[in-house]
Amino acid sequence: MPVITLVHHDGRRDALDVPPGTSIMHAAIAAGIDGIVGECGGSAMCATCHVYVAEGKMDQLPPVDAVEDAMLDSTACERKPESRLSCQLRVTEEFDGLVLFLPEQQV
Ligand code: FES
Repeated sequence: MPVITLVHHDGRRDALDVPPGTSIMHAAIAAGIDGIVGECGGSAMCATCHVYVAEGKMDQLPPVDAVEDAMLDSTACERKPESRLSCQLRVTEEFDGLVLFLPEQQV
């Protein structure tokens, strides 16, 4: 099963076993990760599931669509080139080893 590592703003790390087909937001909520809120339930409507993708990994992920792109302008913390909404990242086997950094706050 793909393992996704979430790095909290304070440096804590959580490694999650995420079944393929599951969004990273849902996996994080299920694991009780406090750095992901997921207020809208995964509809790309709240930007409270914001993550920063580790350097060099953006190209391995599905592209940002127009809805996600618009919502990324509403994140609580600065939008960066490596910003994604974790609810829009549905895990495949290729995600194994992915590292995501959590912003300081989501709201
Ligand atoms: Fe709301 Fe991702 S959970 S935008």
